[in-house]
Amino acid sequence: MIKKYRFGTPFETEAVVKTMETEQGTPEFGEISTEEGFAFTYRMDGEDVVYGLGEANRGLNKRNYCYISNCTDDPNHTEAKMSLYAAHNFIVISGKETFGLFFDYPSKITFDIGYTKEELLQVSCEYADLYLYVITGESAYDIVKQFRKIIGRSYIPPRFAFGFGQSRWGYKTKEDYRSVADGYQDNHIPIDMIYMDIDYMQDFKDFTLNEENFRDFPEFVREMKERGIRLIPIIDAGVKVEEGYPVYEEGVEKGYFCKREDGSDFVAAVWPGDTHFPDVLNPEARRWFGGKYRFLIDQGIEGFWNDMNEPAIFYSREGIEELKETIKRYVQEDMETIPVWELEGLVTGIANNPEDYRRFYHNVGGRMIRHDKVHNLFGYNMTRAAAEAFDRIAPDKRLLMFSRSSYIGMHRYGGIWTGDNRSWWSHILLNLKMMPSLNMCGFLYTGADLGGFDNDATRDLVLRWMALGVFTPLMRNHSAQGTRRQEAYQFGDTEDFRGIVETRYRLLPYLYSEYMKAALNDDMYFRPLAFVYPEDSFAAGVEDQMMLGGEAMIAPVYTQNAKGRYVYLPEDMLFVKFAKDGAYTEELLTQGHHYVEIAVNEVPLFIRKGRCIPLAEAAECMEKLDTANLKMIGFEHAEYTLYEDDGIGKDYENPANYRVLRCD
Ligand code: GLC
Repeated sequence: MIKKYRFGTPFETEAVVKTMETEQGTPEFGEISTEEGFAFTYRMDGEDVVYGLGEANRGLNKRNYCYISNCTDDPNHTEAKMSLYAAHNFIVISGKETFGLFFDYPSKITFDIGYTKEELLQVSCEYADLYLYVITGESAYDIVKQFRKIIGRSYIPPRFAFGFGQSRWGYKTKEDYRSVADGYQDNHIPIDMIYMDIDYMQDFKDFTLNEENFRDFPEFVREMKERGIRLIPIIDAGVKVEEGYPVYEEGVEKGYFCKREDGSDFVAAVWPGDTHFPDVLNPEARRWFGGKYRFLIDQGIEGFWNDMNEPAIFYSREGIEELKETIKRYVQEDMETIPVWELEGLVTGIANNPEDYRRFYHNVGGRMIRHDKVHNLFGYNMTRAAAEAFDRIAPDKRLLMFSRSSYIGMHRYGGIWTGDNRSWWSHILLNLKMMPSLNMCGFLYTGADLGGFDNDATRDLVLRWMALGVFTPLMRNHSAQGTRRQEAYQFGDTEDFRGIVETRYRLLPYLYSEYMKAALNDDMYFRPLAFVYPEDSFAAGVEDQMMLGGEAMIAPVYTQNAKGRYVYLPEDMLFVKFAKDGAYTEELLTQGHHYVEIAVNEVPLFIRKGRCIPLAEAAECMEKLDTANLKMIGFEHAEYTLYEDDGIGKDYENPANYRVLRCD
C-alpha cells in the first residue's frame, strides 16, 4: 500500500507517474517536524537494514553513514564523500517494521542514517515543500516493486547497447577511431560501440563537428557501422557563448537559457569556456534543446551520453570577482602566517560553488524559480529533452541514451553511468554494491567506467573489472586523457581480454532477456541476496555477491593478486567458470561457504538450483550473434523462458517474444 503526503507547496517533479490522492494526517512511521525546514525522524531497531538511495557511496546497507542528495560533479569518490552525481531519494527500512519512503524533493536533502546518532534515521531539508510517499508491504522487495510501479517503466535501450563499448577522453581524429576499431577487430575482441568524447566537437560546442577532423561525417558513421560499430557522441549541458554559433544565438533570441535575477543570461564556465545553460525545466526550451540532437541523428547516429548536467560549473564570473576581492584582502593584510589551506579551499571552491547555484533561475510556467531549489532536476530534464525529441524524430525506434546526473523519474528516459571513478580496486566493489540500489530506484541500464576513469590502470585490474562488467547492462571501458591507455588490446596477450568480452556475448541472450523482463515487469535485474532468500540470515549480510536475473548469482573478484575468493551459497548452485576460447567448467557446490579459485582471465557465475540459462556462440558484434542455436547450461530438466525481440523496435508486448528452452 502506498500513501502520499503533501507538505507545503511542493514542486511537481513528475518523478511519480501514477495519480494519487494525498492523505490527511501524518505517516504512521516516524515523526515529522516542519518547524525549521523539514525533518523526518525514525528510531531504528538494532537489526534494521536500510536499502536504497541508488547512486550513493558505501554499502548496500546504508546504515551508519550520511548521504546528501545534491547532484555534484566530484571526481574523487573517496569513502568520505556524501554526494555523488545523482539524487535518488528512495529508501526502504527492513526489519522490525518494514516500509519504504520516497522524498520527492528536488533540492538538497540529507539522509543521516545513524551517522549522528546510531539508532536514528533523520531525513532533513531546508524547505518544508515536498511530497512524501510511504509504502508498506510484505517485504523490502515487495515495497521496491510497488514503488517501481508508481514511477513508470524503466528506459529500454536498443539491443546493440548491450554489446561492449570502448571510450576514452582524448580520441580526436577519424584515425584515432579507426585505430581503436582495428585494435579490437584485429585481435578478434568483440565490440559494438566506440564513444566520442568532447573532442569530436568544434571548440566543445554541442551539436557541432570538428571541422578539420570530421568532414563527411555521415560517410564515417557508415564506414564504422559497416564494421559493426556504432559511434556514440557525448552532449554537454553548457552551450558555448559565441557569436555566430546558431545554438547560442537561437537560445538567446528565444529566451531559452537560464537567467540571472536581472533577466540577463547566466554565464557559467565549463569545457568550452563561457556557456549558458538551456532551461530544460521550461517545456518549450526543453523541446528546443531536444530537437538539436537531430543534427547528429540525421547523420546516422543512434545513441548519446549526456554529461556535465549536474550542471557542473568550473567557475562563474561572479565567483571569480569574489575570489579576487578575497585574495586582495589577504595580500594587503601582510599576514605573519599565511593560511595556506584556507587559500587553497578558496581557489578550489570556485568550482561547483553553492553560491553559483543561487545566481540563476528557471522559467517554470512563467514563474522564475531559483536554481538551487530545483537543482537535482537538471540532468533529469536534459535527458528528458533528448528522449522526448527521440520520440518525435524516430517514434518507432529505440535510441541509446544515458546520463551522468539523474533524479528518479529520469529512469524512464535513459540510463546512467556512475561518473568519474578511479582505477582503484575499491571502486570495483563500489560498482558492484551500487547496482541493486540503482535498480530499486528504477535505473536498470547502468554501469561504471570499467578499468577506472582517472589514474593509471593495471592489466589485472582491467581484467577483473571487465569480468564484473560482463554482467552490467552498460559494459563500457572509459578513461581520462593523460592516464595510461587501457583498451583491451593495450596490455599484450589479448586472448585473456578476448575471453572475457566473448563471455559477455555468449551470455547475451540471457542478460538481454533478464533485462527486458525486469524492465517490462517493473522488477530488478540485480537483487541483493536478501531479496531472494529472506529467511537466510547470513545472506542478509552479503554485499559482495548479487543475484542476477531469476536464475543466477555473481561473485566477482575485486582484490589484487587474489587467486580466487570466498563465496556464500544460500542454496546448492552450479558454479560455472568461463575461460578463454569458449571453454568453461561446471561444478556442483552445496549450500554454504566455499573458497573458489578464479584466475584473472576467468569469469565466474553461479546458477541457482533447478534453473538453467542459455549460452550462445561468441560473435564479433551483436548483429552477428546467433540466438537461434543456443546451448543450455544448468540443472537437468530445468526450463528457461527466453525473451527476445528485434532489438530496435518497441513491440514489447508481443507474446511471440517469449520462448521456452529446456536443459536436457
Ligand atoms: C567528465 C565526464 C567524463 C568525460 C570528461 C570529458 O569528466 O564524466 O566521462 O570523459 O568529462 O568530457
